[in-house]
Amino acid sequence: MILIAPVNQEDIAAICEMERRFFSPPYSQSALEHEKTHPDAVFLAAREEERLVGYVLLRCLGDEGELHRIAVLPEWRGRGIALGLLANGIDLCARRGAGTIWLEVREGNAPARALYSRFGFTQEGLRKRYYEDPQEDAVIMAYRAPRGKEETPC
Ligand SMILES: CC(C)(COP(=O)(O)OP(=O)(O)OC[C@H]1O[C@@H](n2cnc3c(N)ncnc32)[C@H](O)[C@@H]1OP(=O)(O)O)[C@@H](O)C(=O)NCCC(=O)NCCS
Repeated sequence: MILIAPVNQEDIAAICEMERRFFSPPYSQSALEHEKTHPDAVFLAAREEERLVGYVLLRCLGDEGELHRIAVLPEWRGRGIALGLLANGIDLCARRGAGTIWLEVREGNAPARALYSRFGFTQEGLRKRYYEDPQEDAVIMAYRAPRGKEETPC
Protein backbone atom coordinates (compact mmCIF):
# COMPACT_ATOMS: atom_id res chain seq x y z
CA MET A 1 0.00 0.00 0.00
CA ILE A 2 1.26 3.46 -0.92
CA LEU A 3 1.47 5.96 1.95
CA ILE A 4 1.89 9.69 1.39
CA ALA A 5 3.57 11.68 4.18
CA PRO A 6 6.00 14.59 4.68
CA VAL A 7 9.53 13.98 3.40
CA ASN A 8 11.99 13.04 6.16
CA GLN A 9 15.78 12.96 6.32
CA GLU A 10 15.87 9.28 5.32
CA ASP A 11 14.13 10.12 2.00
CA ILE A 12 16.68 12.72 0.90
CA ALA A 13 19.30 10.37 -0.59
CA ALA A 14 16.66 8.58 -2.73
CA ILE A 15 15.17 11.91 -3.86
CA CYS A 16 18.65 13.14 -4.76
CA GLU A 17 19.12 10.09 -6.97
CA MET A 18 15.73 10.63 -8.66
CA GLU A 19 16.60 14.32 -9.19
CA ARG A 20 19.76 13.33 -11.06
CA ARG A 21 17.85 10.80 -13.18
CA PHE A 22 14.85 12.91 -14.13
CA PHE A 23 15.70 16.63 -13.92
CA SER A 24 18.18 18.99 -15.52
CA PRO A 25 19.50 20.73 -13.53
CA PRO A 26 18.75 18.57 -10.45
CA TYR A 27 18.24 19.96 -6.95
CA SER A 28 21.35 19.41 -4.80
CA GLN A 29 21.18 17.54 -1.50
CA SER A 30 21.50 20.80 0.45
CA ALA A 31 18.71 22.43 -1.61
CA LEU A 32 16.44 19.44 -0.86
CA GLU A 33 17.29 19.62 2.85
CA HIS A 34 16.49 23.35 2.77
CA GLU A 35 13.07 22.62 1.18
CA LYS A 36 12.37 19.93 3.79
CA THR A 37 12.37 22.52 6.57
CA HIS A 38 11.23 25.63 4.66
CA PRO A 39 7.96 26.98 6.15
CA ASP A 40 6.51 27.80 2.70
CA ALA A 41 7.27 24.38 1.23
CA VAL A 42 4.95 21.39 0.94
CA PHE A 43 7.27 18.43 0.37
CA LEU A 44 5.65 14.99 0.38
CA ALA A 45 6.93 11.46 -0.19
CA ALA A 46 5.04 8.44 -1.51
CA ARG A 47 6.36 5.28 0.13
CA GLU A 48 5.71 1.59 -0.33
CA GLU A 49 6.87 -0.31 2.76
CA GLU A 50 9.34 2.43 3.71
CA ARG A 51 10.79 2.60 0.18
CA LEU A 52 10.49 5.99 -1.50
CA VAL A 53 8.72 5.64 -4.86
CA GLY A 54 7.80 9.27 -5.59
CA TYR A 55 7.69 12.83 -4.27
CA VAL A 56 6.12 16.21 -4.84
CA LEU A 57 7.42 19.67 -3.91
CA LEU A 58 5.30 22.81 -3.87
CA ARG A 59 5.79 26.29 -2.46
CA CYS A 60 2.86 28.33 -1.08
CA LEU A 61 3.19 32.07 -1.64
CA GLY A 62 0.25 33.94 -0.09
CA ASP A 63 -2.88 32.99 -1.98
CA GLU A 64 -0.91 31.24 -4.73
CA GLY A 65 1.33 28.21 -4.90
CA GLU A 66 3.87 26.80 -7.34
CA LEU A 67 4.51 23.20 -8.20
CA HIS A 68 8.29 22.77 -8.37
CA ARG A 69 8.71 19.02 -8.66
CA ILE A 70 6.83 15.78 -9.05
CA ALA A 71 8.38 12.43 -9.90
CA VAL A 72 7.59 8.74 -9.59
CA LEU A 73 10.05 5.85 -10.11
CA PRO A 74 9.53 4.31 -13.58
CA GLU A 75 8.52 0.88 -12.22
CA TRP A 76 5.77 2.53 -10.13
CA ARG A 77 4.29 4.74 -12.84
CA GLY A 78 0.78 4.36 -14.24
CA ARG A 79 -0.79 3.50 -10.86
CA GLY A 80 -2.13 6.91 -9.88
CA ILE A 81 0.75 7.74 -7.49
CA ALA A 82 1.42 11.14 -9.07
CA LEU A 83 -2.29 11.97 -8.93
CA GLY A 84 -2.28 11.07 -5.21
CA LEU A 85 0.80 13.21 -4.55
CA LEU A 86 -0.76 16.15 -6.41
CA ALA A 87 -4.08 15.82 -4.59
CA ASN A 88 -2.42 15.74 -1.16
CA GLY A 89 0.07 18.52 -1.92
CA ILE A 90 -2.49 20.86 -3.46
CA ASP A 91 -4.95 20.20 -0.64
CA LEU A 92 -2.30 21.22 1.92
CA CYS A 93 -1.55 24.40 -0.08
CA ALA A 94 -5.25 25.25 -0.29
CA ARG A 95 -5.60 24.80 3.47
CA ARG A 96 -2.81 27.37 3.89
CA GLY A 97 -4.76 29.77 1.67
CA ALA A 98 -3.01 29.10 -1.64
CA GLY A 99 -6.02 28.30 -3.81
CA THR A 100 -4.31 28.76 -7.18
CA ILE A 101 -1.35 26.61 -8.15
CA TRP A 102 0.97 27.49 -11.02
CA LEU A 103 3.53 25.37 -12.81
CA GLU A 104 5.82 25.30 -15.81
CA VAL A 105 6.37 22.13 -17.79
CA ARG A 106 8.53 21.30 -20.79
CA GLU A 107 6.39 21.42 -23.92
CA GLY A 108 7.60 17.95 -24.93
CA ASN A 109 6.91 16.28 -21.56
CA ALA A 110 3.71 14.53 -22.68
CA PRO A 111 3.21 12.32 -19.57
CA ALA A 112 3.50 15.31 -17.21
CA ARG A 113 1.22 17.49 -19.34
CA ALA A 114 -1.35 14.69 -19.48
CA LEU A 115 -1.10 14.27 -15.69
CA TYR A 116 -1.67 17.97 -15.05
CA SER A 117 -4.60 18.18 -17.50
CA ARG A 118 -6.14 15.07 -15.96
CA PHE A 119 -5.88 16.67 -12.52
CA GLY A 120 -7.60 19.85 -13.73
CA PHE A 121 -4.76 22.22 -14.63
CA THR A 122 -5.40 24.40 -17.67
CA GLN A 123 -2.89 25.94 -20.04
CA GLU A 124 -2.41 29.66 -19.39
CA GLY A 125 0.56 30.57 -21.57
CA LEU A 126 3.85 29.64 -23.19
CA ARG A 127 7.36 30.83 -22.32
CA LYS A 128 9.63 30.59 -25.36
CA ARG A 129 13.02 28.87 -24.88
CA TYR A 130 12.52 28.89 -21.09
CA TYR A 131 14.46 25.67 -20.48
CA GLU A 132 18.15 24.96 -21.17
CA ASP A 133 19.93 21.66 -21.66
CA PRO A 134 18.06 20.86 -23.85
CA GLN A 135 16.53 24.17 -24.86
CA GLU A 136 12.72 23.99 -24.94
CA ASP A 137 9.61 26.12 -24.47
CA ALA A 138 7.70 26.03 -21.16
CA VAL A 139 3.94 25.58 -21.01
CA ILE A 140 2.47 27.54 -18.10
CA MET A 141 -0.48 25.86 -16.40
CA ALA A 142 -2.73 26.77 -13.45
CA TYR A 143 -5.14 24.94 -11.15
CA ARG A 144 -7.78 26.70 -9.10
CA ALA A 145 -8.94 24.79 -6.02
CA PRO A 146 -12.71 24.52 -5.62
CA ARG A 147 -14.06 27.29 -3.38
CA GLY A 148 -14.26 26.37 0.28
CA LYS A 149 -10.90 24.57 0.30
CA GLU A 150 -9.04 27.74 1.19
CA GLU A 151 -8.28 28.52 4.81
CA THR A 152 -11.20 30.24 6.51
CA PRO A 153 -10.15 33.63 7.92
CA CYS A 154 -10.72 34.14 11.70
C1 LIG B 1 4.84 12.59 -14.87
C2 LIG B 1 4.89 11.48 -13.80
C3 LIG B 1 5.15 12.14 -12.44
C4 LIG B 1 3.57 10.71 -13.79
O1 LIG B 1 3.58 9.78 -12.70
P1 LIG B 1 2.55 8.55 -12.60
O2 LIG B 1 2.52 8.09 -11.19
O3 LIG B 1 2.87 7.54 -13.64
O4 LIG B 1 1.17 9.25 -12.99
P2 LIG B 1 -0.30 8.66 -12.66
O5 LIG B 1 -0.25 7.17 -12.70
O6 LIG B 1 -0.80 9.30 -11.40
O7 LIG B 1 -1.11 9.19 -13.92
C5 LIG B 1 -2.24 10.02 -13.78
C6 LIG B 1 -2.70 10.46 -15.15
O8 LIG B 1 -1.66 11.18 -15.82
C7 LIG B 1 -1.67 10.88 -17.22
N1 LIG B 1 -0.42 10.17 -17.56
C8 LIG B 1 0.55 9.79 -16.70
N2 LIG B 1 1.57 9.20 -17.39
C9 LIG B 1 1.20 9.21 -18.69
C10 LIG B 1 1.83 8.75 -19.89
N3 LIG B 1 3.04 8.14 -19.88
N4 LIG B 1 1.18 8.93 -21.07
C11 LIG B 1 -0.02 9.54 -21.11
N5 LIG B 1 -0.67 10.00 -20.00
C12 LIG B 1 -0.06 9.84 -18.81
C13 LIG B 1 -2.88 9.99 -17.45
O9 LIG B 1 -4.00 10.83 -17.71
C14 LIG B 1 -3.03 9.34 -16.09
O10 LIG B 1 -4.34 8.93 -15.82
P3 LIG B 1 -4.88 7.51 -16.37
O11 LIG B 1 -3.85 6.50 -16.01
O12 LIG B 1 -6.18 7.32 -15.66
O13 LIG B 1 -5.00 7.68 -17.85
C15 LIG B 1 6.04 10.46 -14.11
O14 LIG B 1 5.92 10.05 -15.46
C16 LIG B 1 7.44 10.98 -13.86
O15 LIG B 1 7.98 10.86 -12.75
N6 LIG B 1 8.09 11.56 -14.90
C17 LIG B 1 9.49 12.08 -14.74
C18 LIG B 1 9.53 13.36 -13.94
C19 LIG B 1 8.72 14.46 -14.59
O16 LIG B 1 8.73 14.66 -15.81
N7 LIG B 1 8.03 15.24 -13.74
C20 LIG B 1 7.19 16.35 -14.19
C21 LIG B 1 7.95 17.58 -14.46
S1 LIG B 1 8.20 18.56 -12.99
